[in-house]
Amino acid sequence: MSPRLPLLLLTLATVLASLRSSRSTCDFPQDNAGGTARNIRGLFVFGSSLVDNGNNNDLVTLAKANYTPYGIDFPWVSRGGGEVGGDEEVVNGVDYASGGSGILDDTGLVAGRVTSLNQQIWNFETVTLPELENRVGCKSAELLANYVFVVGTGGNDYTLNYFLLGSNHNVSLQLFTANLTASLSRQLERLYGLGGRKFVLMSVYPIGCTPMAMARKGSGSGSGCAEYLNRAAQMFNTGIRSATDELNGKLPGAGFVVVNTYKIVRDIIARPHSMGFNNTDSPCCEVKPVSEGGDGALCVRGGKTCEDRGVYVYFDGSHPTEAVNVHMATKAFVSGRPAEVYPFNVSRLSQL
Ligand SMILES: *[C@@H]1O[C@H](CO)[C@@H](O)[C@H](O)[C@H]1NC(C)=O
Ligand SMILES: *[C@@H]1O[C@H](CO)[C@@H](O)[C@H](O)[C@H]1NC(C)=O
Ligand SMILES: *[C@@H]1O[C@H](CO)[C@@H](O)[C@H](O)[C@H]1NC(C)=O
Ligand SMILES: *[C@@H]1O[C@H](CO)[C@@H](O)[C@H](O)[C@H]1NC(C)=O
Repeated sequence: MSPRLPLLLLTLATVLASLRSSRSTCDFPQDNAGGTARNIRGLFVFGSSLVDNGNNNDLVTLAKANYTPYGIDFPWVSRGGGEVGGDEEVVNGVDYASGGSGILDDTGLVAGRVTSLNQQIWNFETVTLPELENRVGCKSAELLANYVFVVGTGGNDYTLNYFLLGSNHNVSLQLFTANLTASLSRQLERLYGLGGRKFVLMSVYPIGCTPMAMARKGSGSGSGCAEYLNRAAQMFNTGIRSATDELNGKLPGAGFVVVNTYKIVRDIIARPHSMGFNNTDSPCCEVKPVSEGGDGALCVRGGKTCEDRGVYVYFDGSHPTEAVNVHMATKAFVSGRPAEVYPFNVSRLSQL
């Protein structure tokens, strides 16, 4: 549970840091998250590898990225780590995300140990919350309105659970998806019950268009996206959009927004050049293909990377580059289009 945050979140945190107010009576340290004070003090982040900052490093799992070339453009890594600890950092937020994990407790177990979303929320509740209340001197009900809760999960419930080869699932995709979104709603309500008020949900990406999914589909790269995965993602995304409406309607004082990363990434893939990209289908780093006994997903240890990382959509076989993350974070914060961030943007959410 290191408080270091991956890029998408750093970008969000930077913009949010400029928007804080001191409405509450909680005694926040002067300098937390830096910047001029408005009402956002930090981020709590839950989810999968898309938002994991290294929490799997000590777990027995294949889902790790604690080796080069991962982190090649991450300023704190290139400066040599900069491990930070202690209660001062807790006030800036904590990232609980775990690569390979999903909404369901059994998702990702195929890769080894992961920290499920339920366990992540439990860690927040039992470890961070008491420490934070103690540090800031007020109760969670007052405290947590000053934080944004980012939840980015769901894709692995399909790729590392439902669609797993040999997995003996008896339920239809519809029923499975309804179960997933209902579980996620309950988990979000639990965070609301603890005092969370501002929530940013990430939709599931076009998981059928990753280099790994396209390679697994067969006939080599350039064979197009695996549409069965994209259909599942879209079904899930429709579900969380309805869940968002429902939660916004029934939970007083709360704001839930969904960032439509599905659309944002597909828009890049459809018209890459207009957004500064020129490679949409191959990993920037060296990946060992499934056809050669590799996983097709993660960078090879110490492997080479493409020269111009800023023009690639995917860094490895299944995760987008920093350039794509910056693009998504910016859309999340400023976009006025409900098709991109629904029902309103994170800038507005932060001012609730
Ligand atoms: C799937 O269905 C079969 C036959 O109806 C049943 O025996 C089995 O327990 C079911 N498996 C699960 C995981 O529900
Ligand atoms: C729904 O998910 C729960 C676990 O969260 C599981 O026990 C149950 O079997 C699932 N039902 C369906 C229809 O998938
Ligand atoms: C992509 O961009 C790189 C660097 O800007 C350039 O060298 C390369 O020729 C471009 N490739 C295509 C297909 O446009
Ligand atoms: C966010 O959305 C609002 C409308 O809800 C819009 O007025 C505003 O320009 C958008 N961008 C920012 C940075 O607030």
